Amino acid sequence: MLQESGIGIAMTGCGSAVPAAWLDNTGMSQLVETSDEWIASRTGIRQRRLAAPTESLRTLATQAAQNALDMAGLVATELDLIILATSTADDLFGSASQIQADLGATKAAAFDLTAACSGFIFAMVTASQFIRTGTYQTILLVGADVLSRWVDWSDRRTCVLFGDGAGAMVMQAAESDRFLGFEIRSDGSRNECLTLAFQPQPRELVNDIRVGQGSFQPIQMNGQEVYRFAVKKVPEVIEKALFRSQLTVEQIDWLLLHQANQRILDAVAERLGIPAHKVISNMGKYGNTSAASIPLALDEVVRAGHVKPGDVIAAAGFGAGLTWGAAIFKWG
Ligand code: UT7
Repeated sequence: MLQESGIGIAMTGCGSAVPAAWLDNTGMSQLVETSDEWIASRTGIRQRRLAAPTESLRTLATQAAQNALDMAGLVATELDLIILATSTADDLFGSASQIQADLGATKAAAFDLTAACSGFIFAMVTASQFIRTGTYQTILLVGADVLSRWVDWSDRRTCVLFGDGAGAMVMQAAESDRFLGFEIRSDGSRNECLTLAFQPQPRELVNDIRVGQGSFQPIQMNGQEVYRFAVKKVPEVIEKALFRSQLTVEQIDWLLLHQANQRILDAVAERLGIPAHKVISNMGKYGNTSAASIPLALDEVVRAGHVKPGDVIAAAGFGAGLTWGAAIFKWG
């Protein structure tokens, strides 16, 4: 099916990169009072990759991006736009331009997009709009996060969950359309459920003129609230995106959810009536890598040959904001 503009969209490459160092649940139990049994049974997570101080968001993101470009058979100078979905930029002014420079994507505009663990879905939707309108033909998306920088390593309720990584995808204008439908949502009234918040310290510059300088506080999460939100809202948003795609649940080949908790994946699949063999899961190896988790999981199954060109993928992200969203697309 081709959209009204007559411009189709194809997903032509993916890539990923993770730090070399990993910490398993037994190692975690040396840090906080926890156990492999608790973490594995409550979340499905068994280990996570952690970026060394010498590694950066920039290096991981650039590696993932280069792998995606290679799969798409493109050189960086062919890119029109780079969108980096991240909450942990190396530079608060944005890290997308750093990736643009490292890739040598001299023609591409580049910007960061922040929608936490929904960031990659929001980035796909944003890219699709630039392609549909005929503005750009070739767009690189990167989802990357180094949440280990912002975790409270003494808080067992959160520190066992997160890991670092990067994933990327190339979206291109095409004759036949493979980006079938989407829905993105936000509810800022529940922002306090999951935060990585700036805390200002008042500083007087001159008489009566004060500014707030300070630092970001570690991740805080009401896990049960976020769990309930995800299990309720993710099936709804996938159903909406399916409706827009004129597809039924039975036509989904793969369910590709943000990798936060295996129990969330299982509950969403059950609510939608999607069998377990269609559910993509790699959080056992990587934990929750925030904006990276969807493209990282996609890259693994594509490179393993499980996902084939033409397969219908229902992807959905959810997390801080609160934000959530789904995109239905055919791979390739
Ligand atoms: O990426 C953004 C989206 N994030 C999510 O989707 C996360 C959603 N939330 C979750 O996945 C789950 O709520 C968690 C995995 C975070 C927590 O699982 P839970 O089954 O909701 O556990 P809980 O918070 O209800 O805690 C149960 C018990 C508590 O002990 P008491 O009060 O019952 O005695 C906790 O103190 O487990 C305890 N606990 C732990 N025990 C050992 C919490 N964390 C740990 C731990 N190790 N790491």
